[in-house]
Amino acid sequence: MRRKIVAGNWKMNGSKDLVNRLVGQVRSGLAPLDNGVEAVIIPPALFVGDVISETGGEIAVGVQNIACWDSGAYTGEISAGMAKDSGCDYSLVGHSERRQLFGETDEQVSVKVARALASGLDAVICVGETLEEREAGKAEDVVSAQVRKAVSEVDGGQWQQVVIAYEPVWAIGTGKTATAEDAQAMHAAIRAVLKSLGAPSEQISLLYGGSVKADNAAALFAQPDIDGGLIGGASLDAKEFVSICRAMPGKS
Ligand code: PGA
Repeated sequence: MRRKIVAGNWKMNGSKDLVNRLVGQVRSGLAPLDNGVEAVIIPPALFVGDVISETGGEIAVGVQNIACWDSGAYTGEISAGMAKDSGCDYSLVGHSERRQLFGETDEQVSVKVARALASGLDAVICVGETLEEREAGKAEDVVSAQVRKAVSEVDGGQWQQVVIAYEPVWAIGTGKTATAEDAQAMHAAIRAVLKSLGAPSEQISLLYGGSVKADNAAALFAQPDIDGGLIGGASLDAKEFVSICRAMPGKS
């Protein structure tokens, strides 16, 4: 049985006021949630403590990024151990905005994955092709290479802490979503890559991200290899986020 996860990535949005309003609304909107979905809130790191207080332990919390190092003279960075110590369960790693805007490389992604897992965080590893790569017919090759490199240091029981989010870059924040069929095809390809690496591929949760909204989530989540979603813009609206969590079929 794979975990079903719907994670809300707030990106660099929010305030204490938003935390106070939104988390309570999400919490009450999700109670009770009987489809087995684990909801995760991923706010800016400064608000992690406030979000945890508001969730009352009912919603998992994560950070959007961690450093490549455990501690030391790295001004402005936050380590995986600090995130864990602050009560986080998850870290995103290799979000396309980190890759594109901050030059994060596949090599750094693999180091961060290793740091996250060693610190006891679950890593939501983000992969995805650009529009140019898709139009050139290279989407699967690009995504496969990203996956292989990102998990190159993972082994044994650590696979239980690995989640992969397929987020086509052209679908993030654009209102364009991959069709459920295209998303499913890529998820199946990712699962095949994991299998070829000797990972317990049938147990690893694969999320889709990129303009997921309440009105398209059900079709995506109905696909056999899509185990949940990574939600950006729509996670800042409690009603939308709750509806997306509820769009997962089945009961636990
Ligand atoms: P979006 O973002 O839902 O706003 O497209 C998804 C993401 O970047 O994780």
